[in-house]
Amino acid sequence: MTDSTRLNPADEIALGRDFMTLSQHVLSNFGTFSAEAYDLSALMSRIGLAGKTIARHLSLAGLLENVLGVTGETNVQGEAVKNMDHYANRVFLRAFEQSGLVCRLASEEMEKPYYIPENCPIGRYTLLYDPIDGSSNIDVNLAIGSIFSIRQQEGDDENGEAEDLLQSGRKQIGAGYILYGTSTMLVYSLGKGVHAFTLDPSIGEFILFQENIHIPDSGSTYSVNEGNFWQWEESMREYIRYIHRQKGFSARYSGALVADIHRILFQGGVFLYPGTIGHEDGKLRLLYESAPLAFLIEQAGGRASTGTQDILDVVPTKLHSRTPLIIGSKENVKVVESFLNK
Ligand code: AHG
Ligand code: MN
Ligand code: MN
Repeated sequence: MTDSTRLNPADEIALGRDFMTLSQHVLSNFGTFSAEAYDLSALMSRIGLAGKTIARHLSLAGLLENVLGVTGETNVQGEAVKNMDHYANRVFLRAFEQSGLVCRLASEEMEKPYYIPENCPIGRYTLLYDPIDGSSNIDVNLAIGSIFSIRQQEGDDENGEAEDLLQSGRKQIGAGYILYGTSTMLVYSLGKGVHAFTLDPSIGEFILFQENIHIPDSGSTYSVNEGNFWQWEESMREYIRYIHRQKGFSARYSGALVADIHRILFQGGVFLYPGTIGHEDGKLRLLYESAPLAFLIEQAGGRASTGTQDILDVVPTKLHSRTPLIIGSKENVKVVESFLNK
C-alpha cells in the first residue's frame, strides 16, 4: 500500500517551494501569530496584488490602449505623467481602498496624501510609494519598478497635512520594491532581514526565491548618470576619475533605480545620484525612493548616505523632499564619502 501522505522527494521539494508564498513568509518571519503579524502579512499581500496587476498590464504594453505614452499632465514634481504612472498610482489606491489596513497613501504622483474615507486611528499604517520607478523605460520595454515604504501614524493628523510623516527613515517599519524585469520580483524587509520572491504567473503567487539576503561588502559595479559629470561638485568628479583608474570596475546604469539597486543588492557595488548645479539635493525623493531603499540595503548589511549623513537620519521638510543618494556595499559607500568629505 502506498503512503498517501507522501510524494516522491522531488515533488515534495517543489510543493514545499510553491507553498512559501509572500503572506506565509511574513507570518513565519514574525514567528508569532499576533494581530500585527496578521496585519503586516495582509498588507504585504495587497502590495503583492498591486504588483501582479501592474505586471499584467505591462505585459500587454502596445496591445492595450493607454499603457505606453503620456497623459498630457504634469505631476507635483514638474515631470510629464506617463499613462503607466497614472495607472499604477490608481492600482495601489484601489488595492488598499477597501482593505481596512491603511488609513493614508502618499505617492510621487499625488501632491497630498490620499485619505481612505473612514476614520484614521493613531497607529494605523500609511503606505508611501513610487508607483512606477524608471518611467523613461516604459515605452522601450526595459526594466522598471515600484517602491514602497510602510509607516505608522504617530500624530492625530487633524488638519490632514500628514506632518507626522516628516520624520526620519528610522521610523519605517517596512520597505521594499517590485521589479518588473525578465520576471517580476518582490523584495521586502520588515526589519527582520531582506527576502526576495519571484512571481509565478501560472499560479498568480509570489514564491520565495531567497531569504536573508546579504549584500557583498564591496563590489565592482558603479551606477551613475555620467551625463551629469559637469553638473557635479568637483569632489564627485574626483571620485569618478578615481574609479576610472581602478581595474575591473564596470559602469551599469539602467535609468531605473530599482533595477540598478537590485543588481547591487545581489552582486555588490554602489549607486549614486548626487546633487547637481541648481539641484543640490539631487533628483530622488526621500520618503518613497531613498528612505525605503536605504532601509532595505541596511537590513542587507549595506549602507546609504547623502555623502555626509546616513539617509535614514535625514528628516524631510516636506512630503516630496529630495536628497542626494549614495547607496550599496558598505566599503564602496565609505570610499565615496571619503572623497566628498575631503
Ligand atoms: P521616476 O521614474 O520615479 O521619476 O524615477 C526615476 C529616477 C530613478 O529611477 C533613476 O535612477 C533616475 O530617476 C534617472 O534619472 P536620470 O535620467 O536623471 O538619470
Ligand atoms: Mn522613482
Ligand atoms: Mn515614479
